[in-house]
Amino acid sequence: MHVLVLASRKGGVGKTTLSGHLAVEAERAGVGVVALIDTDPQAGLTGWWKVRVSESIPMINVLPAGLGATLRELEAAGIDLVVIDTPPSITASISETVRHADLVVIPAKPSPHDLRAVGATVDIVEAERRPLVFVVNQATGRAKITGDAAVALSQHGTVAPSTLHHRVDFAVSMTDGRTAVELDPKSKSAAEVSALWLYLADRLERIRRNAAAAANPA
Ligand SMILES: Nc1ncnc2c1ncn2[C@@H]1O[C@H](COP(=O)(O)OP(=O)(O)OP(=O)(O)O)[C@@H](O)[C@H]1O
Ligand SMILES: [Mg+2]
Repeated sequence: MHVLVLASRKGGVGKTTLSGHLAVEAERAGVGVVALIDTDPQAGLTGWWKVRVSESIPMINVLPAGLGATLRELEAAGIDLVVIDTPPSITASISETVRHADLVVIPAKPSPHDLRAVGATVDIVEAERRPLVFVVNQATGRAKITGDAAVALSQHGTVAPSTLHHRVDFAVSMTDGRTAVELDPKSKSAAEVSALWLYLADRLERIRRNAAAAANPA
């Protein structure tokens, strides 16, 4: 079972949007059974999930302190991927959740203010010694700013090669329990999420292979 955690101490960067989109995309891509966990007291992802028509992705409500036991149960139940949304600002809660991650996805908006704020999240992830990847989200058409953002982020760690642009369908789809691909499978937003998931799936698989090799050295 893979555990993907979306985290950023900065609010409004796209953690919840990406949690829903990546879970749905992973399932569409055939990863197997996907489950969601919402550790944010604001419960935005839970709100989205409640108005969802499709019931294939379960939502598990658990506080970070109970995550270890819950994840063991989910693995035993045959879940293939768990996507966990986290709150902004609550450092202790984010740390407790990040601890269980195979990979931490940190969305970041390409604005100087947001980029200056990523250090606080990186500190949390590094303290827990988990691998991280940045995803530039809400990029505008101004390619230079997006490129500059990727360079700035790369000082802290790996940047996903697929950027998500600022598009109204990302926001609109979330209001009625869907994702961009469920609004229009041929949309640019759907293609961006698909490319991002392919990249993350590859990273997760490499992490699994490396962990298996470390556990059973030849
Ligand atoms: N790529 C995008 N294009 C357009 N709107 C977006 C995009 N990503 C996120 N948004 C919008 O930006 C706002 C913040 O996104 P979201 O709630 O996913 O962020 P968050 O990091 O979970 O916020 P919080 O820290 O408050 O939990 C929402 O209104 C969402 O619809
Ligand atoms: Mg959120």
